[in-house]
Amino acid sequence: TSNAMWGGRFAGGPDAIMEAINASIGFDRRLAAQDIAGSRAHAAMLAAQGILTDKDADAIREGLLTVLSEIEEGKFEFSTALEDIHMNVEARLIELIGDAGRRLHTGRSRNDQVATDFRLWVRDQCDAAMEGLAALQRALLDQAEAGADWVMPGFTHLQSAQPVTWGHHMMAYVEMFARDHSRLRDARARMNECPLGAAALAGTSFPIDREMTAAELGFDRPSANSLDAVSDRDFALEFLSAASITAMHLSRLAEELVIWSSAQFRFVALSDRFSTGSSIMPQKKNPDAAELLRAKIGRIFGAQVALLTVMKGLPLAYSKDMQEDKEQVFDAADTLMLSLAAMTGMVGDMSANRESLRAAAGSGFSTATDLADWLVREANLPFRDAHHATGALVALAERKGCDLPDLSLAEMQEINSAISDGVFDVLGVDKSVASRTSYGGTAPENVRAQIARWRSHLG
Ligand code: ARG
Repeated sequence: TSNAMWGGRFAGGPDAIMEAINASIGFDRRLAAQDIAGSRAHAAMLAAQGILTDKDADAIREGLLTVLSEIEEGKFEFSTALEDIHMNVEARLIELIGDAGRRLHTGRSRNDQVATDFRLWVRDQCDAAMEGLAALQRALLDQAEAGADWVMPGFTHLQSAQPVTWGHHMMAYVEMFARDHSRLRDARARMNECPLGAAALAGTSFPIDREMTAAELGFDRPSANSLDAVSDRDFALEFLSAASITAMHLSRLAEELVIWSSAQFRFVALSDRFSTGSSIMPQKKNPDAAELLRAKIGRIFGAQVALLTVMKGLPLAYSKDMQEDKEQVFDAADTLMLSLAAMTGMVGDMSANRESLRAAAGSGFSTATDLADWLVREANLPFRDAHHATGALVALAERKGCDLPDLSLAEMQEINSAISDGVFDVLGVDKSVASRTSYGGTAPENVRAQIARWRSHLG
């Protein structure tokens, strides 16, 4: 038998394979709440414009609420033959209320319907991701506050570079996640235009009020061009782009947690709640959550490439290709939310090992730059000469198997006679970080000021 929604010009039904490739109800049922909200706004607008009677609009509203509760209670019978969430909801509505239900689709199409539903869904995900990011930032702030002046090695090339503070390192991620947050906020603002009323592609001859439906659904305005409204999925791509960058940041932090929790580093201990054991090695405590997070974010990158690929060859306006947008975005959003929650849990629970951080902070001649700076300041050496002399001191210490502060003054003066006793003051890691007072530098007073700034911002 032919389709109840569009079967008028069809003599027969679809092949089973056609149904299988065509149906999206298996996944787009996740848009049920958005679909019903869109239909309610549409029906209310049709009534306000005198296109529907109030009686029909009331019946539609009641009917849609029934459908929604059936879905929420798991009583709804989804049908693959009805293709997607839009037709499933509408068919059930007609079953429940009869002819009034048949009038709902006046002046609209599944094309503007799906564009509206999906925007509403992605908009919600932007909000959820922003909340997730704020929670993670608060967890990082707590860590930063606890160890604002704890010294640790700062790395370049994963080689000891200069001492920094634990608080400074945590706050670096607070800044990164703040930019991710603002990217999502920008994307949300740009996507907040309502496609409903664009109909199939050209608009409609019914005297609809697009301002009304837009306002009803919390959009800033109706989209200005009906072709554009049903054709583009750039809003989903912007979400995926912001999600990808966030995911990249999450993965870098995850990588650091994996390294830091190793027996060789011992910078942090992850909690039992976010670790797993080994079935054979009794001593093991593995950072599986961090590893999985590091791996899972590939799904988000993949979704972005997949959707770009879906879209790149499509002529205006709607093509069925666009139905392939949803699974990618659903999976990416789920992965992002889970990853944010896992990272927030790990960061909230972990304890930094102050002693290990301190012991590592001084290794690898990490205060060599302080020594060179001292030579510039106190002995008036040009920086290049100071750099060279310090390099010779490092080489000497390396030969002797000791650290820079372990060299005697006499040994130092043999390399450069301008060196005096005062040099030992700058060779300690605490002095080193305390001296980095330039704006944005790692000095604890700077770090505390940044923590206070973010604290008042994030609440
Ligand atoms: N399930 C479809 C989608 O997700 C809805 C739009 C269908 N429109 C159409 N003209 N076949 O894209």
